[in-house]
Amino acid sequence: MADIFEIGTVGSGIMGAGLAEVTARAGHHVVVRSRTLEGADAVRGKILSGFERQVAKGKMTADERDAVMGRIRVTDHLGQLADCDLVIESIVEDLQAKRTLFAELEQIVKPSGILATNTSTLPVVEMAMATQRPDKVCGIHFFNPAPVMSLVEVVRPVTASDDTIAAATAFATACGKQPVLVEDRAGFVVNALLFPYLNNAVRMMEYGTAAMADIDAAMKGGCGFPMGPFALLDLVGLDTSVAILDALYDEFRDPNYAAVPTLRRMVAAGRLGRKTGHGFYDYDGT
Ligand SMILES: NC(=O)c1ccc[n+]([C@@H]2O[C@H](COP(=O)([O-])OP(=O)(O)OC[C@H]3O[C@@H](n4cnc5c(N)ncnc54)[C@H](O)[C@@H]3O)[C@@H](O)[C@H]2O)c1
Repeated sequence: MADIFEIGTVGSGIMGAGLAEVTARAGHHVVVRSRTLEGADAVRGKILSGFERQVAKGKMTADERDAVMGRIRVTDHLGQLADCDLVIESIVEDLQAKRTLFAELEQIVKPSGILATNTSTLPVVEMAMATQRPDKVCGIHFFNPAPVMSLVEVVRPVTASDDTIAAATAFATACGKQPVLVEDRAGFVVNALLFPYLNNAVRMMEYGTAAMADIDAAMKGGCGFPMGPFALLDLVGLDTSVAILDALYDEFRDPNYAAVPTLRRMVAAGRLGRKTGHGFYDYDGT
């Protein structure tokens, strides 16, 4: 089984920063690639400010902070990922964009390198087939926020070798996560079950069954969920949520996966959730 020392991450959105933090904390050297140096620097800045808060609270020492930050390198050049043992992409949930990226990574990353996607729903085999090494492509699906959530879905497309899946599983375990092996079906386990619920919560508000804040309060108080469906949609990002629902609907044709009109209108309006400061709720300081 391939040893994994150096990791590359691609994408500097919600998940990009979390992935870099988790892998660096696990002792790996991480190269964070964004399309712009500003984006890559922003990932580094976001991780550092989180660590500063932890140092201030006594949950991390300054030496630990410096050691982990010392393992994170940022770049806007894909070429800097050439020597990585594992590259995990976390760019926009768009199959064509991901296929283009995998074709580029194929040219750049050393032949023994594993190429993984953090996609929430898209067919991993389609990304594998954009490369000349489909046996070394799999899904490694972290959850949001990556440093906090314990699950990783290791997604096995039909093309992946047992070695690749074993290496991805060992990597997730080394990051302190609980890996669960899933076949390459849209939404894997968690999102296939979660998104009908989220979508139907918005439909329920459209029907006027209850107000948004009351639906959130009901699911927290009645089911013991840490947050209600509208707060969770804002955390995930409404554009990503619609992309997830569309991929689920494309695969299963189940009406529960057909994104309700309110979600699409909010995306059209740029109300994407926490990341834009406005979604179902408003967020200060974003
Ligand atoms: N948001 C979540 O809760 C969550 C959880 C698990 C997995 N994911 C998955 O992680 C991935 C990223 O999601 P996110 O929430 O971080 O999204 P995001 O919108 O916060 O960030 C997307 C990133 O992709 C970049 N990007 C956009 N178009 C691109 C292109 N054509 N080529 C290269 N880069 C491009 C953006 O600059 C940005 O850095 C998606 O595949 C998503 O399904 C998201």
